[in-house]
Amino acid sequence: MTPLLRVENLGVAINRGGKKLSALDGVSFELYPAEILGIVGESGCGKSITALSLAGLLPGAAELTSGSIRFAGRELRGLPEGELRTIRGREISFIFQEPALSLNPLIKAGAQIAEALELEKKPGGRRDRAAIRERALRFMERLGLREAERIYDSYPHQLSGGMCQRVMIALALIRGPRLLIADEPTTALDVTIQAQILDLMRRVNRESGTGILFISHDLKVIRSISSRVLVMYAGKIVESGPVEEVFAHPRHEYTRGLIGSIPGRERKGKPLVNIPGKVPGIGERLPGCPFAPRCGRAERRCFEAFPPETIFPGAENPGALHRAHCIYPEPRPAEGEH
Ligand SMILES: Nc1ncnc2c1ncn2[C@@H]1O[C@H](COP(=O)(O)OP(=O)(O)O)[C@@H](O)[C@H]1O
Ligand SMILES: [Mg+2]
Repeated sequence: MTPLLRVENLGVAINRGGKKLSALDGVSFELYPAEILGIVGESGCGKSITALSLAGLLPGAAELTSGSIRFAGRELRGLPEGELRTIRGREISFIFQEPALSLNPLIKAGAQIAEALELEKKPGGRRDRAAIRERALRFMERLGLREAERIYDSYPHQLSGGMCQRVMIALALIRGPRLLIADEPTTALDVTIQAQILDLMRRVNRESGTGILFISHDLKVIRSISSRVLVMYAGKIVESGPVEEVFAHPRHEYTRGLIGSIPGRERKGKPLVNIPGKVPGIGERLPGCPFAPRCGRAERRCFEAFPPETIFPGAENPGALHRAHCIYPEPRPAEGEH
């Protein structure tokens, strides 16, 4: 199957104090049509920079230094901002952690959705406010937004965090994008609302075939929503594969450490293992495996060079293979399980 998105050898540098510091290094992955691909990793690993780099949303201090981003067969790297903006409006949508920051506080929620619909209007077409309102309301109802009318007529500050996130999702989806990039979309929400938002995203994926790149530091969320997962550490993808496979047989010591840190029923009574140390900031990164300084099994060679990728036999689809960059790829129980 041809991927909807193919990212190859992506590099991003951030200018800080006159120096170019590497934030992403050799990031490669594919996202297939109608797939939910997760990205997981601790805070500061480069998940958001990855998301922002895909359709020209990097902050001013950051720049792409290498690689290719092919979306629906078209190279996005190097496209002029105007074309990227068109792609962001129609084909690739984003939702972020803080809906309140992405919504315009001065405009009623419904008017913001209506505006997105009006952008579709043909030049010279007559604006029909009542018809647009009707379409927006029907769409909100189809997404399962109860009280669509009340939401439509509210300002963002009059809505709860969960409602705002639903409005954001409606805004992101109303023009039928092929790819939705969701960066920590449920992190600011309480558990019940989080579950409802995840359900909503699953339903959209199933019913409309929208591909979703779902980013979270929360392994439980990633496990429950994605079919495949990329594990990211210090600007690199250290492991990837089908989600159940990665959780059952993690091949990288970082993934094993993350899984060992999940609190939960299955681990009741067992000690919670946290990975000692912290993610190196950009500018603190050394050669070799970036996880080596925190890894209980690191050998000298881990500090010298980033281990090559090991590919594990898996499904027939090459994108569904299980891959890891670790010298200890053999299956071993996750930390805290023994
Ligand atoms: N605008 C920026 N200026 C300087 N450094 C940044 C900027 N954005 C991100 N970084 C740095 O890049 C690294 C990756 O950040 P980010 O992609 O936000 O991580 P994550 O989303 O995984 O938490 C971090 O070390 C962070 O401090
Ligand atoms: Mg982030």
